[in-house]
Amino acid sequence: MGTVVTTAYRPTAKTIADAERIAADLGIPFISRNKRPIEALHMEERSDVIVAMNERLELYPLGKAEPFFFHPNSAAFRTKRPLASDPLIEISGLQPGERFLDCTLGMASDALTVSQWLGAGGKVVGCESNPIIAFIIKEGLKSYSMMPHLTEAMQRIEVEAADAVEYLKSQEDDSFDVIYMDPMFTEAIAESSNFSPVRNTADMGQLTGEWVAEAKRVARRAVVLKAHFRSTDFEAFGFKRRIRPNTKFHYGVIQTG
Ligand SMILES: C[S@@+](CC[C@H](N)C(=O)[O-])C[C@H]1O[C@@H](n2cnc3c(N)ncnc32)[C@H](O)[C@@H]1O
Repeated sequence: MGTVVTTAYRPTAKTIADAERIAADLGIPFISRNKRPIEALHMEERSDVIVAMNERLELYPLGKAEPFFFHPNSAAFRTKRPLASDPLIEISGLQPGERFLDCTLGMASDALTVSQWLGAGGKVVGCESNPIIAFIIKEGLKSYSMMPHLTEAMQRIEVEAADAVEYLKSQEDDSFDVIYMDPMFTEAIAESSNFSPVRNTADMGQLTGEWVAEAKRVARRAVVLKAHFRSTDFEAFGFKRRIRPNTKFHYGVIQTG
């Protein structure tokens, strides 16, 4: 099963040009919409469908009626609170101007919150191994305009459509101050999220010894893990767990310097 790209229900010159560009960039077929509803496209193409809308890209994984698209998600409210007390920023000890690698970019809500905190002197790179998710998020970060106070922080995030371990292997020792990983929970949590439509499309790969070893080599100061509160990965890989009462997930830290 692959992915095809089409236009909104009523194509415009812009959505046709966008869809053709996306087809070329991702090496996937461009198909004419022909006023077909998403359900009919799924039945006839047997593929996930990217829809080029005027204002954003939407991904409809096969069989899903709800689209996945870029949105600041939790970063929208986290960046309205004092950022120094955001749990991820506080636990990782990040300071403005530092370099942050997010190994598991997903919707980029964590990366965006951190990018806003690090400011113009900081550096944020996000790895996403699913090339379609990476593409939708990369385009969204470049073009989303509804929260102008976050525009610069969005545009500073460098998206790498790559497996985190492969990316880490290509990096020199101490190239980032903090490295973060937030793999998919194996245990589904009842939480509505803009990520839900791609829950079965995302990379379900879990932490490995090689991944942690590479992150420790590349992180100058700390490696941070977010995982379900029942996860045993904290102890298995040597992370010091920070218990957060009444939350479904915990953070853990390995100090590297
Ligand atoms: C739980 S989500 C991350 C959510 C993210 N922290 C946010 O703020 O939106 C995990 C994401 O990491 C991706 N992923 C999983 N394993 C990966 C790997 N080895 N390298 C790169 N991305 C990976 C998945 O495809 C998924 O999109």
